[in-house]
Amino acid sequence: MSKKIIAISGSLRKDSYNTALLNEVKTFVPDLEILSISDLPLFNEDLEASFPAAATALKQKIEAADAVIFATPEYNRSIPGALKNALDWASRPWGKNSFSGKQVLVIGASMGPIGTAVAQQDLKKVMLYLDAHVIGQPEFYLGTVQDKIKDGKIVDQNTMDHLKKAVQRLIDLA
Ligand code: FNR
Repeated sequence: MSKKIIAISGSLRKDSYNTALLNEVKTFVPDLEILSISDLPLFNEDLEASFPAAATALKQKIEAADAVIFATPEYNRSIPGALKNALDWASRPWGKNSFSGKQVLVIGASMGPIGTAVAQQDLKKVMLYLDAHVIGQPEFYLGTVQDKIKDGKIVDQNTMDHLKKAVQRLIDLA
């Protein structure tokens, strides 16, 4: 039986390199569903009493999936606030964390040389706390992305090969 894989980009930017990476995954995993996190309100415990529809929809998509791919930018050596906001919503209400038991692959692209390594470490830490099964190897850190993705497409064969390898590992484990 084929496994349900969803993906979340940590960037809300229209021409995001990280979203481009997920769009490229979709070329070889056609069933991949890329979720949007842009409609979520800022997390506020007061809002949990009448849970926002966008947060409920996000939780339902995660819960129906076997595996999740995150492509995250690095903002000031951590994950973007929009992504953390989505993780916080999906972890609530208390006792109803949607990530528990999910296979998780973390990838990321940045214009700097270390390719989101620090941000990914933060994201993996949160995922471990949320009881997800985070893939340790292979790692996927795409630095100087402006040379490897152009007009939304990967133009570097090594990058594409490595991306396929990382996603295949997720599929094998899911
Ligand atoms: C950045 N960028 C960045 N890059 C990096 O390698 N390490 C970092 O800590 C940061 N910090 C940072 C903070 C903020 C607020 C912004 C807006 C940007 C640059 C970042 O890698 C670049 O903008 C990417 O293109 C963002 O990813 P998307 O939107 O293309 O997916």
